[in-house]
Amino acid sequence: MNTKIELLDKENPNIEILKKAGATILNGGLVAFPTETVYGLGANALDPEAVKKIFIAKGRPQDNPLIIHVADFNIEKFVLEIPDIAKKFMKKFWPGPLTIIMNKAEVIPYVTSAGLDSVGIRMPSNSVARELIREAGVPIAAPSANISGRPSPTDIETCVEDLNGKIEYIIGGERCNVGLESTIVDCTVDPPCVLRPGGITLEMLREVDDRVYIDPAIMKKPDKNLKPKAPGMKYRHYAPKAPVKIIDGDLNKSIAKIKEMVQNYIDNNMKVGVMATNETLSEYSNALVKSLGSRKDLYSIGKNLFKVLREFDDENVDIILSESFEEKEMGIAVMNRLKKAAGFDIIKV
Ligand code: TXA
Ligand code: MG
Repeated sequence: MNTKIELLDKENPNIEILKKAGATILNGGLVAFPTETVYGLGANALDPEAVKKIFIAKGRPQDNPLIIHVADFNIEKFVLEIPDIAKKFMKKFWPGPLTIIMNKAEVIPYVTSAGLDSVGIRMPSNSVARELIREAGVPIAAPSANISGRPSPTDIETCVEDLNGKIEYIIGGERCNVGLESTIVDCTVDPPCVLRPGGITLEMLREVDDRVYIDPAIMKKPDKNLKPKAPGMKYRHYAPKAPVKIIDGDLNKSIAKIKEMVQNYIDNNMKVGVMATNETLSEYSNALVKSLGSRKDLYSIGKNLFKVLREFDDENVDIILSESFEEKEMGIAVMNRLKKAAGFDIIKV
């Protein structure tokens, strides 16, 4: 298939291109598009045949449900009811990186929800995304626009790398602001439960309802007794090609441990990548070092994480060592993705 790649100016996007891309969605085709979290791979959420194409293009397991993207607050027709707590979250955090799980209406096909009776809905804050949804005239089902298992794309080049030739359109241009997928909060249960941490933090959700908690299964290595409630969280997602190890504990001790490990790997003729921060970058002179940003700004760490993991892939490193971050506020989402990238290989110092 010949994929049309269209660069759009976020402030002043070419409306003709958005109309064509929207019509492609409505008519059953696939379009990769920017959101504030990561790029999405979109199809008409109400059309089972279109949605099936997403699973094929990504190589996505059939039991992993898709979230649907809307451009306005009129979501009554897609759900059985909007719980009061969901209304409060929508009012406070939409448009933005928050997906809300509710019980689905019949109009949402089971292919989209992967057989579940619930559906995740979110209104992205990216204006190109919302304009595309408006032009399509239907909600857009969209997982992250990567091949299943690889880090989610946070720029258009990465979408092209993974999906060129497989879909009708790739539109966008700007880098994603948040860089990690949306927070998912399940409002079919009381109290609401966070199934995936993201840019809307636990602390922010607790300002609305202080009983909100995080699914205990997602910060630990999945086992048969403790399964994550979001089907997608059980997969070894976000994985770069090289194995990742996290060195966790006091920062100075971590730096010393990483240096020692780097030397060992180099002595064994291995190419080592180190994920450091602006504050620690100069410590690791023998390795291929990349900074995720400043330790003082966990949002910048989140924004750069997937990009840096992909860069290490391009450099063909044999192993990636990473510093760790405090698990509070945005640090919860950062550590969740990092642990999954590492397959929970954590070295305590
Ligand atoms: O930021 C995002 O959410 C991005 C952009 C494109 O909007 N999308 C995204 O989609 O990350 P995806 O498919 O990569 O991740 C969706 C996650 C999966 O882990 C899936 O299992 C979970 O949401 N999920 C979807 N519907 C669900 C449901 N009804 N119940 C529980 N988990 C659900
Ligand atoms: Mg994904």
